Amino acid sequence: MKIIMLGAPGAGKGTQAQKIAAKYDIPHISTGDIFRANIKNNTELGKKAKEYMDQGLLVPDELTCDLVTDRIQQDDCKNGFILDGFPRTIPQAEALTNALNKLGTAMDYAIDVDVPDENIVNRMSGRRACLKCGATYHIVTIPPKKEGICDKCGAELVQREDDAPETVQKRLTVYHEQTQPLIDYYKKAGILKTVDGTKDLEDVFKSITDILGA
Ligand code: AP5
Ligand code: MG
Repeated sequence: MKIIMLGAPGAGKGTQAQKIAAKYDIPHISTGDIFRANIKNNTELGKKAKEYMDQGLLVPDELTCDLVTDRIQQDDCKNGFILDGFPRTIPQAEALTNALNKLGTAMDYAIDVDVPDENIVNRMSGRRACLKCGATYHIVTIPPKKEGICDKCGAELVQREDDAPETVQKRLTVYHEQTQPLIDYYKKAGILKTVDGTKDLEDVFKSITDILGA
């Protein structure tokens, strides 16, 4: 099963992608997590990506496309994968379509987690993230069992640098300009499914598993 998670920053793509990956036993590939891991390890890619991420801008396509098209050809992706945060521009979507075409395959589902802008800033200000395993919490709606500590791996939780309210506003603008057109792209491809992302975490998950089946 090959799935794309679409949705605004803070819509819950990462939260749902982790649960889907565990349920269907497929890798969760988040470009945001890959960039953050590179920033933490101070790699060349991390240094370049940070310049854009700190401003709420997209990392250029040339740094992003090959990274993902290479990743999905690794062994663990044989039975499928879930993409979270990629594609984010029409050229990225085209690069993905072409790479899969060459492999004689295509994506199965593009799931748009729909959340209006007014709900987003609240979610982001309460978000706490684990940079070690990628788990995500919210101090009010999805708190960790022990404050500041990841339930899954025990690492310390942090507030993401790009979750400052001004940067969130910028990310929303960038989303509407550059990423929202993908909804139409995947509608035309016949694989778009939309779920209401304002519901509780488990209700959103149920809407998604109803679509995916089993
Ligand atoms: P990325 O890491 O992908 O960030 P994003 O798309 O802005 O999305 P977020 O991770 O902020 O939100 P999410 O939808 O995953 O929500 P979450 O589950 O955490 O990208 C960061 C940056 O990297 C980009 O700005 C860009 O610079 C760069 N980048 C990455 N990919 C790129 C690409 N392909 N091309 C170019 N640049 C790229 O949930 C949010 C909060 O809400 C959490 O606190 C969570 O606990 C809570 N929550 C989730 N679901 C619910 C619910 N149902 N009810 C209540 N609270 C909920
Ligand atoms: Mg995320």
